[in-house]
Amino acid sequence: MDIEEFDVIIVGAGLSGLRAGLELSSQWNVAIISKVYPVRSHSGAAQGGINAALGNLEVGKDDTPKGHAFDTVKGSDYLADQNVVMFMCEEAPKIVIEFESMGAPFSRLDSGLIAQRPFGGAGFPRTCYAGDRTGHALLHTLYEQCVRNSVKFFDEYFLIDLIVVENKIAGVICLDIASGELVIFRSLYVILATGGFGRMFKSSTNAIINTGDGNGAAFRAGVPMQDCEFVQFHPTTLYGTNILITEGARGEGGLLYNNEGERFMSKTAPKAMELAPRDMVARAIDIEVMEGRGFENAYVNLDLTHLGANKINERLPGIREISIYFAGIDPIEEPIPVQPGQHYSMGGIATKFEGDFGETDLSGLWVVGECSCLSVHGANRLGGNSLLETSVFGRAIGRKLLEKGLPSRPSSPIRENVENKVLKETEDLFKKWENNSGKKPVVIRQAMGGIMNQYVGVFRKQDELKYAYEDLKRLQEDFQDVHIATSDRKFNYGLIRTLELRSMLDIAEVTAYAALMRKESRGAHYRWDYPERDDKNFLWHSLVYRTKDGLELKQKPVILGIFEVKERAY
Ligand code: FUM
Repeated sequence: MDIEEFDVIIVGAGLSGLRAGLELSSQWNVAIISKVYPVRSHSGAAQGGINAALGNLEVGKDDTPKGHAFDTVKGSDYLADQNVVMFMCEEAPKIVIEFESMGAPFSRLDSGLIAQRPFGGAGFPRTCYAGDRTGHALLHTLYEQCVRNSVKFFDEYFLIDLIVVENKIAGVICLDIASGELVIFRSLYVILATGGFGRMFKSSTNAIINTGDGNGAAFRAGVPMQDCEFVQFHPTTLYGTNILITEGARGEGGLLYNNEGERFMSKTAPKAMELAPRDMVARAIDIEVMEGRGFENAYVNLDLTHLGANKINERLPGIREISIYFAGIDPIEEPIPVQPGQHYSMGGIATKFEGDFGETDLSGLWVVGECSCLSVHGANRLGGNSLLETSVFGRAIGRKLLEKGLPSRPSSPIRENVENKVLKETEDLFKKWENNSGKKPVVIRQAMGGIMNQYVGVFRKQDELKYAYEDLKRLQEDFQDVHIATSDRKFNYGLIRTLELRSMLDIAEVTAYAALMRKESRGAHYRWDYPERDDKNFLWHSLVYRTKDGLELKQKPVILGIFEVKERAY
Protein backbone atom coordinates (compact mmCIF):
# COMPACT_ATOMS: atom_id res chain seq x y z
CA MET A 1 0.00 0.00 0.00
CA ASP A 2 1.34 3.44 -1.00
CA ILE A 3 0.66 6.80 0.57
CA GLU A 4 0.75 9.98 -1.52
CA GLU A 5 0.43 13.43 -0.01
CA PHE A 6 -0.86 16.66 -1.61
CA ASP A 7 -2.48 19.92 -0.61
CA VAL A 8 -5.47 19.23 -2.81
CA ILE A 9 -6.74 16.08 -4.49
CA ILE A 10 -9.12 16.48 -7.39
CA VAL A 11 -10.98 13.38 -8.48
CA GLY A 12 -11.97 13.54 -12.14
CA ALA A 13 -10.07 14.94 -15.11
CA GLY A 14 -12.93 16.34 -17.17
CA LEU A 15 -13.30 20.07 -17.68
CA SER A 16 -14.32 20.78 -14.07
CA GLY A 17 -11.40 18.93 -12.54
CA LEU A 18 -8.87 20.26 -15.01
CA ARG A 19 -10.00 23.86 -14.62
CA ALA A 20 -9.87 23.66 -10.82
CA GLY A 21 -6.50 21.94 -10.98
CA LEU A 22 -5.09 24.55 -13.31
CA GLU A 23 -6.09 27.35 -10.97
CA LEU A 24 -4.78 25.67 -7.82
CA SER A 25 -1.53 24.48 -9.36
CA SER A 26 -0.36 28.09 -9.58
CA GLN A 27 0.30 28.00 -5.83
CA TRP A 28 -0.31 24.59 -4.34
CA ASN A 29 0.71 20.98 -4.67
CA VAL A 30 -2.21 19.46 -6.58
CA ALA A 31 -2.96 16.03 -7.97
CA ILE A 32 -5.73 15.00 -10.32
CA ILE A 33 -6.89 11.39 -10.09
CA SER A 34 -8.78 9.92 -13.02
CA LYS A 35 -10.19 6.48 -13.71
CA VAL A 36 -9.25 6.97 -17.38
CA TYR A 37 -6.59 8.83 -19.31
CA PRO A 38 -7.70 12.49 -18.84
CA VAL A 39 -8.62 13.27 -22.44
CA ARG A 40 -10.93 10.24 -22.45
CA SER A 41 -13.09 11.99 -19.84
CA HIS A 42 -16.73 12.42 -20.80
CA SER A 43 -16.46 16.22 -21.25
CA GLY A 44 -14.83 15.27 -24.55
CA ALA A 45 -18.14 13.89 -25.79
CA ALA A 46 -19.94 17.25 -25.52
CA GLN A 47 -20.82 18.27 -29.02
CA GLY A 48 -22.85 21.43 -29.45
CA GLY A 49 -21.10 24.18 -27.51
CA ILE A 50 -20.69 26.51 -24.58
CA ASN A 51 -23.01 29.45 -23.89
CA ALA A 52 -21.84 33.04 -23.43
CA ALA A 53 -23.60 36.31 -24.20
CA LEU A 54 -20.88 37.54 -26.57
CA GLY A 55 -23.32 38.98 -29.09
CA ASN A 56 -21.01 38.14 -31.98
CA LEU A 57 -23.78 37.70 -34.54
CA GLU A 58 -25.78 40.70 -35.77
CA VAL A 59 -29.01 38.98 -34.68
CA GLY A 60 -27.53 38.43 -31.20
CA LYS A 61 -26.00 41.85 -30.66
CA ASP A 62 -28.45 42.79 -27.90
CA ASP A 63 -27.68 39.70 -25.83
CA THR A 64 -26.54 40.23 -22.23
CA PRO A 65 -25.47 38.05 -19.29
CA LYS A 66 -28.74 38.99 -17.60
CA GLY A 67 -30.67 37.73 -20.65
CA HIS A 68 -28.67 34.51 -20.48
CA ALA A 69 -29.47 34.22 -16.77
CA PHE A 70 -33.17 34.82 -17.41
CA ASP A 71 -33.29 32.09 -20.07
CA THR A 72 -31.46 29.72 -17.72
CA VAL A 73 -33.83 30.37 -14.81
CA LYS A 74 -36.91 30.08 -17.01
CA GLY A 75 -35.50 26.91 -18.61
CA SER A 76 -34.91 25.50 -15.11
CA ASP A 77 -38.65 25.86 -14.44
CA TYR A 78 -37.68 28.34 -11.73
CA LEU A 79 -35.88 25.82 -9.54
CA ALA A 80 -32.34 27.10 -10.17
CA ASP A 81 -30.73 29.25 -7.48
CA GLN A 82 -30.78 32.63 -9.13
CA ASN A 83 -27.61 34.05 -7.55
CA VAL A 84 -25.59 31.07 -8.81
CA VAL A 85 -27.06 31.39 -12.30
CA MET A 86 -26.29 35.11 -12.38
CA PHE A 87 -22.67 34.47 -11.39
CA MET A 88 -22.26 31.81 -14.08
CA CYS A 89 -23.76 33.96 -16.84
CA GLU A 90 -21.66 36.99 -15.90
CA GLU A 91 -18.50 34.86 -15.94
CA ALA A 92 -19.44 33.18 -19.25
CA PRO A 93 -17.96 35.72 -21.72
CA LYS A 94 -14.75 35.86 -19.65
CA ILE A 95 -14.31 32.09 -19.54
CA VAL A 96 -14.89 31.72 -23.30
CA ILE A 97 -12.34 34.44 -24.06
CA GLU A 98 -9.96 32.72 -21.65
CA PHE A 99 -10.39 29.47 -23.60
CA GLU A 100 -9.74 31.40 -26.80
CA SER A 101 -6.54 32.86 -25.36
CA MET A 102 -5.41 29.34 -24.40
CA GLY A 103 -5.78 28.37 -28.06
CA ALA A 104 -9.13 26.58 -28.13
CA PRO A 105 -9.98 26.09 -31.82
CA PHE A 106 -13.46 27.66 -31.89
CA SER A 107 -15.33 27.87 -35.19
CA ARG A 108 -15.25 31.43 -36.56
CA LEU A 109 -17.58 33.85 -38.28
CA ASP A 110 -16.41 35.60 -41.46
CA SER A 111 -15.60 38.56 -39.19
CA GLY A 112 -13.09 36.38 -37.35
CA LEU A 113 -15.11 36.45 -34.13
CA ILE A 114 -16.06 33.22 -32.35
CA ALA A 115 -19.07 31.66 -34.10
CA GLN A 116 -22.33 31.27 -32.15
CA ARG A 117 -25.38 29.15 -32.93
CA PRO A 118 -28.94 29.10 -31.55
CA PHE A 119 -29.71 26.48 -28.87
CA GLY A 120 -32.89 25.42 -27.10
CA GLY A 121 -34.57 27.84 -24.72
CA ALA A 122 -32.18 30.67 -25.60
CA GLY A 123 -33.40 34.14 -26.56
CA PHE A 124 -30.34 34.76 -28.77
CA PRO A 125 -27.79 32.61 -30.60
CA ARG A 126 -25.20 32.41 -27.80
CA THR A 127 -23.70 28.92 -28.06
CA CYS A 128 -20.02 29.13 -29.04
CA TYR A 129 -18.76 26.00 -30.75
CA ALA A 130 -15.93 24.12 -32.37
CA GLY A 131 -17.82 22.31 -35.14
CA ASP A 132 -19.72 19.60 -33.34
CA ARG A 133 -16.78 18.55 -31.17
CA THR A 134 -16.66 21.44 -28.72
CA GLY A 135 -16.04 19.37 -25.59
CA HIS A 136 -13.18 17.55 -27.27
CA ALA A 137 -11.57 20.87 -28.26
CA LEU A 138 -11.92 22.39 -24.79
CA LEU A 139 -10.78 19.24 -22.97
CA HIS A 140 -7.57 19.04 -24.97
CA THR A 141 -6.96 22.76 -24.50
CA LEU A 142 -7.24 22.54 -20.72
CA TYR A 143 -5.24 19.33 -20.48
CA GLU A 144 -2.38 21.00 -22.36
CA GLN A 145 -2.48 23.88 -19.91
CA CYS A 146 -2.41 21.54 -16.92
CA VAL A 147 0.56 19.63 -18.33
CA ARG A 148 2.29 22.95 -18.99
CA ASN A 149 1.69 23.92 -15.35
CA SER A 150 3.04 20.59 -14.05
CA VAL A 151 -0.21 19.38 -12.51
CA LYS A 152 0.45 15.86 -11.25
CA PHE A 153 -1.87 13.25 -12.81
CA PHE A 154 -2.68 9.78 -11.52
CA ASP A 155 -4.33 8.13 -14.54
CA GLU A 156 -6.34 4.93 -14.16
CA TYR A 157 -6.83 5.23 -10.42
CA PHE A 158 -10.32 4.41 -9.18
CA LEU A 159 -11.87 6.34 -6.28
CA ILE A 160 -13.14 3.93 -3.64
CA ASP A 161 -14.00 6.11 -0.63
CA LEU A 162 -13.37 9.41 1.08
CA ILE A 163 -11.24 9.49 4.22
CA VAL A 164 -12.68 11.62 6.98
CA VAL A 165 -10.74 12.39 10.16
CA GLU A 166 -12.50 14.17 13.02
CA ASN A 167 -15.31 15.34 10.70
CA LYS A 168 -12.90 16.84 8.17
CA ILE A 169 -11.81 15.48 4.83
CA ALA A 170 -8.34 13.99 5.00
CA GLY A 171 -7.98 12.34 1.60
CA VAL A 172 -9.27 9.44 -0.45
CA ILE A 173 -8.55 5.74 -0.88
CA CYS A 174 -8.12 4.55 -4.46
CA LEU A 175 -7.39 1.43 -6.43
CA ASP A 176 -4.48 1.61 -8.86
CA ILE A 177 -6.25 -0.19 -11.69
CA ALA A 178 -3.06 -1.50 -13.34
CA SER A 179 -1.32 -2.91 -10.27
CA GLY A 180 -4.42 -3.65 -8.22
CA GLU A 181 -2.79 -1.97 -5.19
CA LEU A 182 -4.70 0.23 -2.77
CA VAL A 183 -3.32 3.77 -2.47
CA ILE A 184 -4.09 6.41 0.16
CA PHE A 185 -4.01 9.99 -1.07
CA ARG A 186 -3.74 12.42 1.82
CA SER A 187 -4.89 15.98 1.27
CA LEU A 188 -6.34 19.00 3.04
CA TYR A 189 -9.05 19.55 0.45
CA VAL A 190 -10.76 17.09 -1.86
CA ILE A 191 -12.63 18.30 -4.92
CA LEU A 192 -14.98 15.78 -6.49
CA ALA A 193 -15.36 16.36 -10.22
CA THR A 194 -16.34 12.84 -11.21
CA GLY A 195 -19.01 13.75 -13.78
CA GLY A 196 -22.44 12.28 -14.39
CA PHE A 197 -24.05 9.00 -13.44
CA GLY A 198 -26.25 8.34 -16.44
CA ARG A 199 -25.09 4.76 -16.73
CA MET A 200 -27.58 3.79 -14.03
CA PHE A 201 -30.06 3.99 -16.94
CA LYS A 202 -30.01 1.38 -19.67
CA SER A 203 -30.23 3.97 -22.49
CA SER A 204 -27.93 6.92 -22.11
CA THR A 205 -25.68 9.21 -24.09
CA ASN A 206 -23.20 8.90 -21.23
CA ALA A 207 -19.84 7.17 -21.55
CA ILE A 208 -19.40 3.79 -19.88
CA ILE A 209 -17.30 5.56 -17.22
CA ASN A 210 -20.21 7.73 -15.99
CA THR A 211 -21.10 5.72 -12.94
CA GLY A 212 -21.35 8.23 -10.10
CA ASP A 213 -18.22 7.14 -8.24
CA GLY A 214 -17.88 10.52 -6.53
CA ASN A 215 -21.58 10.68 -5.74
CA GLY A 216 -21.51 7.27 -4.13
CA ALA A 217 -18.42 8.09 -2.08
CA ALA A 218 -19.92 11.37 -0.82
CA PHE A 219 -23.27 9.74 -0.04
CA ARG A 220 -21.60 6.95 1.92
CA ALA A 221 -19.75 9.65 3.88
CA GLY A 222 -23.09 11.19 4.87
CA VAL A 223 -23.32 14.06 2.36
CA PRO A 224 -26.88 14.30 0.97
CA MET A 225 -27.88 14.18 -2.70
CA GLN A 226 -29.84 17.13 -4.02
CA ASP A 227 -32.53 17.29 -6.74
CA CYS A 228 -31.77 13.84 -8.13
CA GLU A 229 -35.34 13.45 -9.39
CA PHE A 230 -34.46 15.86 -12.21
CA VAL A 231 -32.92 13.74 -14.95
CA GLN A 232 -32.43 15.21 -18.39
CA PHE A 233 -33.46 13.12 -21.39
CA HIS A 234 -31.85 14.53 -24.51
CA PRO A 235 -34.55 14.63 -27.18
CA THR A 236 -32.34 13.55 -30.05
CA THR A 237 -30.25 10.46 -29.50
CA LEU A 238 -29.65 8.06 -32.35
CA TYR A 239 -32.40 5.44 -32.43
CA GLY A 240 -31.12 2.15 -31.05
CA THR A 241 -27.68 3.13 -29.77
CA ASN A 242 -28.65 6.40 -28.03
CA ILE A 243 -25.52 8.17 -29.23
CA LEU A 244 -25.93 11.93 -28.86
CA ILE A 245 -27.16 13.82 -31.92
CA THR A 246 -26.35 17.36 -30.88
CA GLU A 247 -28.96 20.04 -30.29
CA GLY A 248 -26.65 21.99 -32.60
CA ALA A 249 -28.25 20.01 -35.45
CA ARG A 250 -31.54 21.74 -34.65
CA GLY A 251 -29.67 24.98 -33.93
CA GLU A 252 -28.36 24.84 -37.49
CA GLY A 253 -31.92 24.41 -38.79
CA GLY A 254 -32.69 20.68 -38.38
CA LEU A 255 -36.43 19.90 -38.24
CA LEU A 256 -38.37 17.18 -36.39
CA TYR A 257 -41.11 15.27 -38.21
CA ASN A 258 -43.59 12.57 -37.24
CA ASN A 259 -44.82 9.81 -39.57
CA GLU A 260 -47.51 12.14 -40.92
CA GLY A 261 -44.87 14.59 -42.14
CA GLU A 262 -45.91 17.07 -39.46
CA ARG A 263 -43.53 19.37 -37.55
CA PHE A 264 -45.20 18.29 -34.34
CA MET A 265 -43.36 20.79 -32.09
CA SER A 266 -45.92 23.35 -33.29
CA LYS A 267 -48.38 21.75 -30.86
CA THR A 268 -46.32 22.29 -27.69
CA ALA A 269 -43.97 25.15 -28.48
CA PRO A 270 -45.40 27.12 -31.40
CA LYS A 271 -42.80 29.89 -31.15
CA ALA A 272 -39.62 28.01 -30.24
CA MET A 273 -40.54 24.84 -32.19
CA GLU A 274 -37.51 22.49 -32.35
CA LEU A 275 -35.58 24.90 -30.12
CA ALA A 276 -37.82 24.61 -27.08
CA PRO A 277 -36.05 23.40 -23.91
CA ARG A 278 -35.05 19.75 -23.88
CA ASP A 279 -37.66 18.56 -21.40
CA MET A 280 -40.45 19.82 -23.65
CA VAL A 281 -38.99 18.40 -26.86
CA ALA A 282 -38.30 15.00 -25.27
CA ARG A 283 -41.90 14.78 -24.02
CA ALA A 284 -43.29 15.88 -27.38
CA ILE A 285 -41.32 13.13 -29.19
CA ASP A 286 -42.44 10.45 -26.75
CA ILE A 287 -46.07 11.57 -27.10
CA GLU A 288 -45.87 11.30 -30.90
CA VAL A 289 -44.55 7.77 -30.57
CA MET A 290 -47.07 6.77 -27.87
CA GLU A 291 -49.96 8.07 -29.96
CA GLY A 292 -48.86 6.15 -33.05
CA ARG A 293 -47.28 8.97 -35.02
CA GLY A 294 -43.70 7.72 -34.67
CA PHE A 295 -41.81 5.34 -36.89
CA GLU A 296 -41.63 1.66 -35.92
CA ASN A 297 -43.33 2.67 -32.64
CA ALA A 298 -39.99 4.02 -31.50
CA TYR A 299 -38.61 7.19 -33.07
CA VAL A 300 -39.22 10.39 -35.04
CA ASN A 301 -37.15 11.89 -37.85
CA LEU A 302 -34.62 14.68 -37.56
CA ASP A 303 -34.28 16.11 -41.04
CA LEU A 304 -31.10 17.95 -42.02
CA THR A 305 -31.26 17.30 -45.77
CA HIS A 306 -32.36 20.88 -46.58
CA LEU A 307 -29.18 22.25 -44.90
CA GLY A 308 -27.10 20.96 -47.81
CA ALA A 309 -23.80 19.10 -47.92
CA ASN A 310 -21.58 22.13 -47.31
CA LYS A 311 -23.24 23.20 -44.07
CA ILE A 312 -23.48 19.65 -42.76
CA ASN A 313 -19.83 18.94 -43.55
CA GLU A 314 -18.64 22.21 -42.04
CA ARG A 315 -20.82 22.48 -38.91
CA LEU A 316 -21.94 18.92 -38.19
CA PRO A 317 -19.22 16.58 -39.49
CA GLY A 318 -19.30 14.38 -36.38
CA ILE A 319 -23.08 13.95 -36.62
CA ARG A 320 -22.72 12.87 -40.22
CA GLU A 321 -20.05 10.32 -39.26
CA ILE A 322 -22.09 8.96 -36.35
CA SER A 323 -25.19 8.60 -38.54
CA ILE A 324 -23.26 6.80 -41.28
CA TYR A 325 -21.26 4.50 -39.00
CA PHE A 326 -23.95 3.64 -36.47
CA ALA A 327 -27.20 3.83 -38.48
CA GLY A 328 -26.09 3.49 -42.09
CA ILE A 329 -27.75 6.83 -42.86
CA ASP A 330 -26.16 9.82 -44.54
CA PRO A 331 -27.95 12.92 -43.19
CA ILE A 332 -27.14 14.78 -46.42
CA GLU A 333 -29.52 12.36 -48.14
CA GLU A 334 -31.94 11.10 -45.46
CA PRO A 335 -33.40 12.08 -42.07
CA ILE A 336 -31.82 10.73 -38.87
CA PRO A 337 -34.02 8.49 -36.67
CA VAL A 338 -33.99 9.93 -33.14
CA GLN A 339 -35.49 9.16 -29.73
CA PRO A 340 -34.99 10.65 -26.25
CA GLY A 341 -32.27 9.12 -24.06
CA GLN A 342 -30.86 9.85 -20.62
CA HIS A 343 -28.23 12.56 -21.02
CA TYR A 344 -27.57 14.59 -17.89
CA SER A 345 -28.29 14.80 -14.18
CA MET A 346 -29.42 18.17 -12.91
CA GLY A 347 -29.09 16.83 -9.37
CA GLY A 348 -26.00 15.63 -7.57
CA ILE A 349 -23.96 16.06 -4.42
CA ALA A 350 -25.61 18.77 -2.34
CA THR A 351 -23.78 21.96 -1.62
CA LYS A 352 -23.99 23.89 1.60
CA PHE A 353 -26.95 26.28 1.88
CA GLU A 354 -25.53 29.79 1.65
CA GLY A 355 -21.98 28.39 1.56
CA ASP A 356 -19.48 29.21 -1.16
CA PHE A 357 -20.21 27.76 -4.60
CA GLY A 358 -19.26 24.08 -4.50
CA GLU A 359 -18.71 23.84 -0.75
CA THR A 360 -20.38 20.88 0.98
CA ASP A 361 -21.42 20.26 4.58
CA LEU A 362 -18.38 18.01 5.02
CA SER A 363 -15.51 20.31 5.91
CA GLY A 364 -12.86 20.33 3.16
CA LEU A 365 -15.00 18.53 0.57
CA TRP A 366 -15.87 20.56 -2.53
CA VAL A 367 -17.78 19.44 -5.59
CA VAL A 368 -18.04 20.73 -9.14
CA GLY A 369 -19.54 19.78 -12.51
CA GLU A 370 -22.18 17.18 -13.20
CA CYS A 371 -21.56 15.15 -10.03
CA SER A 372 -22.56 18.21 -8.01
CA CYS A 373 -25.73 20.17 -7.56
CA LEU A 374 -24.69 23.80 -7.41
CA SER A 375 -28.28 24.36 -8.44
CA VAL A 376 -27.53 26.23 -11.59
CA HIS A 377 -29.84 24.11 -13.80
CA GLY A 378 -32.81 23.58 -11.46
CA ALA A 379 -35.34 21.19 -12.95
CA ASN A 380 -34.04 21.37 -16.54
CA ARG A 381 -30.66 22.38 -17.97
CA LEU A 382 -30.34 24.41 -21.14
CA GLY A 383 -28.01 22.94 -23.75
CA GLY A 384 -24.62 24.65 -23.77
CA ASN A 385 -24.73 25.47 -20.05
CA SER A 386 -22.94 22.30 -18.99
CA LEU A 387 -19.51 23.02 -20.47
CA LEU A 388 -19.99 26.51 -19.10
CA GLU A 389 -20.75 25.31 -15.57
CA THR A 390 -17.71 23.03 -15.47
CA SER A 391 -15.21 25.69 -16.43
CA VAL A 392 -16.75 28.67 -14.60
CA PHE A 393 -17.09 26.83 -11.30
CA GLY A 394 -13.86 24.86 -11.68
CA ARG A 395 -12.05 28.18 -11.84
CA ALA A 396 -14.21 29.80 -9.15
CA ILE A 397 -13.64 26.97 -6.66
CA GLY A 398 -9.91 27.02 -7.33
CA ARG A 399 -9.81 30.76 -6.66
CA LYS A 400 -11.95 30.45 -3.55
CA LEU A 401 -9.73 27.77 -2.00
CA LEU A 402 -6.58 29.79 -2.66
CA GLU A 403 -8.26 32.73 -0.96
CA LYS A 404 -9.23 30.59 2.05
CA GLY A 405 -5.76 29.09 2.41
CA LEU A 406 -4.74 25.66 3.60
CA PRO A 407 -6.26 24.32 6.83
CA SER A 408 -4.09 22.61 9.45
CA ARG A 409 -3.11 18.97 8.97
CA PRO A 410 -4.93 16.31 10.99
CA SER A 411 -3.05 15.12 14.06
CA SER A 412 -0.82 12.19 13.40
CA PRO A 413 -1.92 9.09 15.34
CA ILE A 414 -5.61 9.79 14.84
CA ARG A 415 -5.17 10.08 11.07
CA GLU A 416 -3.19 6.83 10.82
CA ASN A 417 -5.79 4.97 12.85
CA VAL A 418 -8.54 6.11 10.49
CA GLU A 419 -6.47 5.25 7.42
CA ASN A 420 -5.75 1.77 8.75
CA LYS A 421 -9.43 1.24 9.48
CA VAL A 422 -10.41 2.35 5.96
CA LEU A 423 -7.77 0.07 4.43
CA LYS A 424 -8.96 -2.91 6.42
CA GLU A 425 -12.62 -2.26 5.60
CA THR A 426 -11.77 -2.02 1.91
CA GLU A 427 -9.73 -5.24 1.93
CA ASP A 428 -12.54 -7.00 3.84
CA LEU A 429 -15.10 -5.77 1.33
CA PHE A 430 -13.09 -7.03 -1.65
CA LYS A 431 -12.62 -10.42 0.03
CA LYS A 432 -16.33 -10.62 0.82
CA TRP A 433 -17.20 -9.97 -2.84
CA GLU A 434 -14.71 -12.63 -3.92
CA ASN A 435 -16.11 -15.18 -1.47
CA ASN A 436 -19.80 -14.42 -2.00
CA SER A 437 -21.90 -16.81 -4.03
CA GLY A 438 -24.64 -14.51 -5.29
CA LYS A 439 -25.31 -12.79 -8.59
CA LYS A 440 -22.68 -11.37 -10.91
CA PRO A 441 -22.54 -7.54 -10.92
CA VAL A 442 -23.65 -7.44 -14.56
CA VAL A 443 -26.93 -9.16 -13.73
CA ILE A 444 -27.79 -6.60 -11.03
CA ARG A 445 -26.62 -3.76 -13.22
CA GLN A 446 -28.83 -4.79 -16.14
CA ALA A 447 -31.83 -5.10 -13.84
CA MET A 448 -31.13 -1.61 -12.44
CA GLY A 449 -30.83 -0.09 -15.93
CA GLY A 450 -34.08 -1.69 -17.00
CA ILE A 451 -35.97 -0.40 -13.96
CA MET A 452 -34.65 3.12 -14.39
CA ASN A 453 -35.49 3.16 -18.10
CA GLN A 454 -38.97 1.78 -17.66
CA TYR A 455 -40.20 3.51 -14.52
CA VAL A 456 -38.06 6.57 -13.87
CA GLY A 457 -38.00 7.91 -17.42
CA VAL A 458 -39.51 10.89 -19.26
CA PHE A 459 -43.01 10.16 -17.91
CA ARG A 460 -43.56 8.96 -14.36
CA LYS A 461 -46.39 8.00 -12.02
CA GLN A 462 -46.86 6.98 -8.40
CA ASP A 463 -47.34 3.22 -8.66
CA GLU A 464 -44.48 2.80 -11.12
CA LEU A 465 -42.10 4.92 -9.07
CA LYS A 466 -43.04 2.99 -5.96
CA TYR A 467 -42.41 -0.26 -7.78
CA ALA A 468 -39.04 1.05 -9.01
CA TYR A 469 -38.03 2.17 -5.52
CA GLU A 470 -38.99 -1.17 -3.94
CA ASP A 471 -37.26 -3.11 -6.71
CA LEU A 472 -34.08 -1.08 -6.34
CA LYS A 473 -34.13 -1.86 -2.63
CA ARG A 474 -34.36 -5.55 -3.54
CA LEU A 475 -31.38 -5.12 -5.84
CA GLN A 476 -29.49 -3.53 -2.94
CA GLU A 477 -30.13 -6.77 -1.03
CA ASP A 478 -28.90 -8.84 -3.97
CA PHE A 479 -25.83 -6.64 -4.04
CA GLN A 480 -24.96 -7.68 -0.48
CA ASP A 481 -24.22 -11.13 -1.92
CA VAL A 482 -22.67 -9.99 -5.22
CA HIS A 483 -19.91 -12.23 -6.50
CA ILE A 484 -16.77 -11.30 -8.43
CA ALA A 485 -15.13 -14.13 -10.28
CA THR A 486 -11.43 -13.49 -9.83
CA SER A 487 -9.24 -12.36 -6.97
CA ASP A 488 -6.37 -11.25 -9.21
CA ARG A 489 -6.43 -7.50 -8.61
CA LYS A 490 -4.52 -6.39 -11.73
CA PHE A 491 -6.89 -4.73 -14.23
CA ASN A 492 -9.73 -6.49 -12.44
CA TYR A 493 -12.70 -5.01 -14.23
CA GLY A 494 -15.05 -7.32 -12.34
CA LEU A 495 -13.98 -5.46 -9.23
CA ILE A 496 -14.24 -2.05 -10.92
CA ARG A 497 -17.75 -2.78 -12.20
CA THR A 498 -18.77 -3.89 -8.71
CA LEU A 499 -17.42 -0.70 -7.15
CA GLU A 500 -19.27 1.32 -9.79
CA LEU A 501 -22.47 -0.61 -9.19
CA ARG A 502 -22.28 0.05 -5.45
CA SER A 503 -22.47 3.79 -6.13
CA MET A 504 -25.00 3.60 -8.95
CA LEU A 505 -27.43 1.53 -6.91
CA ASP A 506 -27.39 4.15 -4.16
CA ILE A 507 -27.96 7.03 -6.55
CA ALA A 508 -30.62 5.15 -8.52
CA GLU A 509 -32.48 4.48 -5.26
CA VAL A 510 -32.19 8.16 -4.31
CA THR A 511 -33.47 9.19 -7.76
CA ALA A 512 -36.54 6.93 -7.63
CA TYR A 513 -37.26 8.00 -4.05
CA ALA A 514 -36.97 11.73 -4.74
CA ALA A 515 -39.16 11.33 -7.86
CA LEU A 516 -41.74 9.48 -5.76
CA MET A 517 -41.81 12.26 -3.20
CA ARG A 518 -42.18 15.12 -5.70
CA LYS A 519 -45.88 15.13 -6.44
CA GLU A 520 -45.87 17.77 -9.16
CA SER A 521 -44.50 18.19 -12.68
CA ARG A 522 -41.58 20.56 -13.10
CA GLY A 523 -38.93 20.69 -15.81
CA ALA A 524 -37.67 17.22 -16.62
CA HIS A 525 -39.72 15.59 -13.85
CA TYR A 526 -43.13 14.88 -15.37
CA ARG A 527 -45.81 13.01 -13.43
CA TRP A 528 -48.94 11.78 -15.25
CA ASP A 529 -50.73 11.86 -11.91
CA TYR A 530 -49.65 15.43 -11.03
CA PRO A 531 -49.33 17.15 -14.41
CA GLU A 532 -49.05 20.74 -13.09
CA ARG A 533 -46.20 22.62 -11.47
CA ASP A 534 -47.07 23.31 -7.84
CA ASP A 535 -45.06 26.27 -6.53
CA LYS A 536 -47.14 26.47 -3.37
CA ASN A 537 -46.07 23.03 -2.15
CA PHE A 538 -42.96 22.09 -4.12
CA LEU A 539 -40.80 25.10 -4.84
CA TRP A 540 -37.88 23.59 -2.92
CA HIS A 541 -34.79 21.50 -3.55
CA SER A 542 -34.87 17.91 -2.35
CA LEU A 543 -32.08 16.70 -0.08
CA VAL A 544 -31.94 12.93 0.37
CA TYR A 545 -30.00 11.35 3.23
CA ARG A 546 -29.39 7.73 4.17
CA THR A 547 -30.47 7.04 7.77
CA LYS A 548 -30.49 3.75 9.65
CA ASP A 549 -34.20 3.45 8.78
CA GLY A 550 -33.73 4.08 5.07
CA LEU A 551 -33.81 7.18 2.91
CA GLU A 552 -35.06 10.47 4.29
CA LEU A 553 -36.01 13.64 2.43
CA LYS A 554 -35.51 17.20 3.62
CA GLN A 555 -36.31 20.43 1.86
CA LYS A 556 -33.82 23.18 1.02
CA PRO A 557 -35.00 26.64 -0.03
CA VAL A 558 -34.57 27.85 -3.61
CA ILE A 559 -32.69 31.14 -3.86
CA LEU A 560 -34.97 33.53 -5.73
CA GLY A 561 -35.09 37.31 -5.87
CA ILE A 562 -33.74 38.31 -9.27
CA PHE A 563 -36.43 37.01 -11.63
CA GLU A 564 -40.11 36.65 -10.85
CA VAL A 565 -41.40 33.05 -10.79
CA LYS A 566 -43.79 32.63 -13.75
CA GLU A 567 -45.36 30.03 -15.99
CA ARG A 568 -43.14 28.78 -18.83
CA ALA A 569 -44.29 29.24 -22.42
CA TYR A 570 -42.18 28.91 -25.56
O1 FUM B 1 -26.79 18.65 -27.75
C1 FUM B 1 -25.65 18.83 -27.36
O2 FUM B 1 -24.72 19.14 -28.09
C2 FUM B 1 -25.40 18.73 -25.93
C3 FUM B 1 -25.02 19.80 -25.30
C4 FUM B 1 -25.20 19.88 -23.87
O3 FUM B 1 -25.63 18.89 -23.27
O4 FUM B 1 -24.96 20.95 -23.31
